[in-house]
Amino acid sequence: ESYDMGGHDTYMHKEISEQADAVDRVLRGRIDDRFATVHLGGLNLDAREARGVRRVKILGCGSAYHAGQIGAQMIEELARIPADAEPASEFRYRNAVVDPETLYIAVSQSGETYDTLAAVQELKRKGARVLGVVNVVGSAIARETDGGVYVHAGPEVCVVSTKCFTNTAVAFALLALHLGRIRDLSVADGKRIIAGLRKLPGQIEEILANEDRIAELAAEYADAKSMMFVGRVRGYPVAREASLKLKEVSYVHAEAYPASELKHGPLALIEPAVPTVAIVPDDDLLEKNRATLEEIKARSGRILAVAHQEQEKADHTLLVPRNEVELDPILMGIPLQLLAYHSALALGRDIDKPRNLAKSVTVE
Ligand code: AGP
Repeated sequence: ESYDMGGHDTYMHKEISEQADAVDRVLRGRIDDRFATVHLGGLNLDAREARGVRRVKILGCGSAYHAGQIGAQMIEELARIPADAEPASEFRYRNAVVDPETLYIAVSQSGETYDTLAAVQELKRKGARVLGVVNVVGSAIARETDGGVYVHAGPEVCVVSTKCFTNTAVAFALLALHLGRIRDLSVADGKRIIAGLRKLPGQIEEILANEDRIAELAAEYADAKSMMFVGRVRGYPVAREASLKLKEVSYVHAEAYPASELKHGPLALIEPAVPTVAIVPDDDLLEKNRATLEEIKARSGRILAVAHQEQEKADHTLLVPRNEVELDPILMGIPLQLLAYHSALALGRDIDKPRNLAKSVTVE
């Protein structure tokens, strides 16, 4: 895609709308049907080295960190390597133990975020292997890392990340599949994930076709004094990212919690003026998530569910097409990008340049 607005009023809307093409691009030329895997040309990690990885630590800031959380879960699920994500801005200040058997992955749209770059430089100085999952080709983080996966989202102009977040999650699915097939992921599971990946662009179009309904729902919830976003496991990073999106672009206060943590405190906030957006995929946690919806309803909370099927306890459900469960986080955040966009539009915000924010934070 180009910098041309192509008939959109804002870059945010343009970039949300481009996601099917962007995902198509991150997949293009990488799938290997014969061996049910993917080729990641710039990874610079051979099969022997990949088998020696004992842990994966993913570092990024803001949306890149949230995409990294999704990536960590995919790597654990598909490659069975313990993995977690941490804000690069925290990691660089806590004198972390740098472990030679850990594979470090830095995530960044711009490739210029100072906190992430500083974390990479500290890791490299201590002899760690660091890969990049980066959008901007030839950027500082791309140059400093030992190899990696380009996200190929195309130029992202809006301060608020949308298509790059989605493409980064897909890039992590590719990396997880690649690592999984070197380790213990079966041919059958490899094929299942590949079939799921191929469905994504069409399913993204389906979600985007629902924009008018999402705009109506944004108006319905425009009176919220704050919004709660909840999800379990795969749904939790989706909730965190959706909460960040709403805050950044509409300036509406939002909190994200693991659904299971509500009862440990945040339930006290629930009242009609504080609606909840709940991520409710049809996975093995469906019943647990339904119980959460009941708990919220019992406290007079309004609920907007993002789900694969209508949720009886929710006031409204936004339906998202089913894919393989491991890929659910890629699709479930997309309607919530539109929710944030339409909330900001209704409130007359400066959508492409929210107050106090810069596209890339290149200072300490
Ligand atoms: C995303 O909507 C944000 N504006 C912000 O959190 C961003 O993701 C973060 O600053 C990291 O930027 P990067 O991906 O360019 O490193």
